[in-house]
Order: sequence, then structure tokens, then C-alpha cells
Amino acid sequence: MTRFLFHTQLTMSFMLLLPLFFIILTILYKYIWIPLRIQLHFRQQGVRGPGYRPIFGNSAGTRRKMITEAESSRPVSFNHEGVVQRVMPHYYNWSKVYGDTFLYWFGSKARLAVSDPDMIKEVLVSKSRSFGKIRFNPVSKALFGEGLVGLEGEKWVVHRRITGQAFNMERVKEWVPEIVDSIQNMMSKWDANIEAGNKSEFEFDVHKELHQLSADIISRTAFGSNFSEGKRIFELQEQQAVLVLQALRNVYIPGSRFIPTKRNKTMWKLEKETRELVTKLIEKNKNTKQNSNTLLATLISPSKKDDILDLKEIVDECKTFYFAGKETTANLLTWAFLLLGLHQEWQNKAREEVDRVCGQNVFPRADTLADLKIVTMILDETLRLYPPAVMMMRQASENVKLAGRLDVPVGTQLFLAMTAVHHDVRIWGEDANVFNPLRFLEPRNHLGAFFPFGLGPRVCVGQNLAMVEAKIVLAMIVKCYSFVVSPSYVHAPMQSLTLQPQYGAQMIFSRR
Ligand code: HEM
Repeated sequence: MTRFLFHTQLTMSFMLLLPLFFIILTILYKYIWIPLRIQLHFRQQGVRGPGYRPIFGNSAGTRRKMITEAESSRPVSFNHEGVVQRVMPHYYNWSKVYGDTFLYWFGSKARLAVSDPDMIKEVLVSKSRSFGKIRFNPVSKALFGEGLVGLEGEKWVVHRRITGQAFNMERVKEWVPEIVDSIQNMMSKWDANIEAGNKSEFEFDVHKELHQLSADIISRTAFGSNFSEGKRIFELQEQQAVLVLQALRNVYIPGSRFIPTKRNKTMWKLEKETRELVTKLIEKNKNTKQNSNTLLATLISPSKKDDILDLKEIVDECKTFYFAGKETTANLLTWAFLLLGLHQEWQNKAREEVDRVCGQNVFPRADTLADLKIVTMILDETLRLYPPAVMMMRQASENVKLAGRLDVPVGTQLFLAMTAVHHDVRIWGEDANVFNPLRFLEPRNHLGAFFPFGLGPRVCVGQNLAMVEAKIVLAMIVKCYSFVVSPSYVHAPMQSLTLQPQYGAQMIFSRR
């Protein structure tokens, strides 16, 4: 009897321990065996990197520490040499030790850092089918919803077709009068400030002004006459962006976004209000049938009948455009003004060109934009030195060979080091860190060396709007004002989802 009991107990313990044993085995396999095997696989091909640390990889701690250190480090003098070090310190530090192509770890996910233009072109263009978008940290859904930026497969094809229509050049040109009007409103406010202060010049944070301007422009182009109602949505998106960025710097623990922490509760509240406001705008637009050339109108009534989006999909796209449309363009413009404030000779060249192309008292029109060659070169050089997107990510959806020699296993994530490529002396020459728009005089012959809007099928869908908007803003402002960088400006480029000046962009403007 005792023996029988002993055996029963033993069998029961075994049955209870068996699942535990399998769980431990799975954890060891997933978090130790696979990463170490991948690490070895790359080492055998000559790709080194900081060694794998189980579960947390080496990103959670080291990478975050490097970013925090870089952001709290002493700001650099206003030249463009320290940009890579400040905005992607982990890339800067590790590439010095391990070379340009190296492997590091985000949790248990292998990340291959790539800065070779040929490889970048392969990843984004010729072999783009073998690489997908990296799965969003679920936290970022709060900002982009499930819009174009994160979609894949057939759903992406349909959304891309519709949004492509919304942003084609002909449509964007129809928005030029709205853009001009928006800039004029801003300039009237500036002039009122000058008059009120009874001074010939005034100082302000141009970064803030340009964010407001860009918000106004995307509101008008997205919602037409309802644009003023979009203002609240931007405020909510801005608050959300700060919280999302905090969350993205940590490895995501599955399910943690559902825990009612203080941050999560604030994010839920912001998300709910944003969704309600966008939904209201959609309903209003549907009923009024006004403004047929707005973004929203195209999303609601696409030209192909089968392309109808449901309400949730439209809300998600609107959220995406709000964030993607405002943030990036405003930052491009901020850096362009700072650079022209620093390089007065280029400010003068831009002004002469605008006067020549548009006439003395006339603002740019859709048909004169193509003639603003110097303005375009200045914007390209700004996008090279201060690319708003900073870097791009991809994930191998199958085993793939790069540059004819590097075997990349399925699931490997790729960190495409855009800012580092744009500053590389081997590509751009010894003066790579010098502001010299002339380098864009001739058409570029290497795609993978300059890709501020991405490349290939997933190239930025809003590129036309961004460039048209940026050209008009720059042209109108250089025409009416001259400006210098304020002595109080502190040069500290920082990645905050996009590339921003950490302490704002104080500049001094005077009416011409
Ligand atoms: C200077 C301004 C801008 C820059 C530098 C920029 C940069 C980029 C980059 C690098 C990508 C590719 C991301 C990737 O493939 O991983 C992208 C995609 C995208 N951009 Fe922009 N962008 C700008 C302006 C805009 C504007 C004005 C809008 C819309 C109003 C917009 C909407 C989007 C969307 C929806 C995508 C995703 C496209 C897709 O996956 O098919 N962007 N952008």
C-alpha cells in the first residue's frame, strides 16, 4: 500500500513537473539557444557585435544608457560633426569597435546595423519583397493606429493605392493657395508682434512656430474648411508622442499596455479623445460633401469602388497623417532655417532666386515651384545633414543573401543607419559634415546614399506635399524677412521619434 502511494505520488509529481520542464526548455531554446546560434552564424561570416545577454539583449540597458548620456551631454558647437554621435550613439560607439555592419540585440531579437548604400538599396528596392516592416511595438498604435505606416500585404496595397491618389502631384498643387494663405496668417502674426514691440527685429523659437504652421497646413489639406477643429487633435497627438517615445525606449513586455499604470491610463484617455474627434470630423465631412480635394474626401470616396475603407480604417489613416505629416515637415523646416541663419551666403542666394523666379511682390505659385532650384538644393542638403526620420527598420521575412555574401536568416531585424550614411566621408567626401547645397547641383547617381524619404515601394507617400510645403514656406519667409541664429540657441540635435533641436530653435528675424 505504501509502495502504491509512493508510486502514485511519484507519477503525479512527474506529471506536474513535465509541463514546467517543457516551459523551461522552450525558454532556454528561444532565449538562449536561438540567439547564440544566430550570433555564431554572423560571427562565422565576419560580422561581430556586442555579445548577446539573455532576455534583455544589450539594447535595453546599454543602448538606452548611451542615448540618455548623449542627450544629457554638453551640446556641441553649431557645426554638423557631432550629429551621428548625438542622435544614434549606440551606432556611433559600436560601429567604431565592430565596423560598419555589426550585430546587436534588442531583447532576444537580432538586429543587424547596416550603412552600406548597396545593401540598403537591396533591402529597400531590389529585394524589398524579402523584407517586411518591423512589427510595431503595440504601444505605438496609440499614435499611428493601424494606418499605412504599419500595414503589410493586400491591406497595405489597397491603402497605398488610395493614399497615393490623395497625395499625387496634381492634387498637391491644388493645395498651394491654402498653403500660401496659412503662411500669410503666420507672417501677419509676426508683423503684429514687430509693430506691438515697436522694434525692427524680434526673437522667438522658430521650431514651435513651424510646428503650428505645419499643423495648420495638414489640417487644411486633410479637412478643408474644418481645419480649425483639427487643432485639438494635434495637441492630443503631441502629448501621446511624448508617452509613446518613453515606452519605445524599453523592450515591450507583452500585455503590459493593458495594466492600468498612470502612463497607460493617460495614453488610453488621449487615444479615446483623439478617436472621437477624428470620427466626428469624418461624419461632418460625409454629411457636407464639401471640399472634394481634401485628403479626407479621398479616403471616404476613393476612385475605385472596391477600395472602400471602413470608419476605423479612415480614422487610423487620419491619425497617421496627422502625426507623419506635421512632425517631419516641421522639423525639416526648422533645420533649414537654422542652417540658413548660420550660412548667410545661402540665405542671400535663396532670396535672390525667389525674387528672380516669382517676381518682386509675388508669392510662389504651383507652376513656379519647379524653378526654385537653389531652394530645392538647400532643402536636400538639410535633409542630408538632419534627416527627420533618422533611421529605418526592416525585418527579413525569409532567409536572404545581401551583397552576394552575407546570409541573413529569417526574422533578423535590420537597422538602416540613415543619418550615418548621410554623414559618411567615404560617400560624400572630406567635407561630408559641411553644409554645401552645391553637392545637389547634379542629379545623384546612388540611391542608397541619400534616402531621407525612404526608397522603393514603401517610399514616403507624403513626399510631394512635404517638398511643396517646405519650398513655399522657405521661399515666402526669405522673401519677407532676414534672420540669424540667436546667441541663446543651443545646438543639440536629438531623436524624439523624429530629429529635433532638444532646446528649441531660437532665431532673430527682421522685416525686409
Ligand atoms: C520632410 C518630411 C518627411 C520625411 C523626411 C518623411 C520620411 C519618411 C520615410 C523615411 C518613410 C519610409 C518609412 C519606412 O519605409 O520605414 C516615410 C513613409 C511614410 N510617410 Fe513620410 N516623411 C515626410 C513627410 C510626410 C508627410 C507630409 C506625410 C503625410 C501627410 C507622410 C506620410 C508618410 C506615410 C503614410 C508613410 C508610410 C508609407 C508606406 O509605408 O507605404 N510623410 N516617410
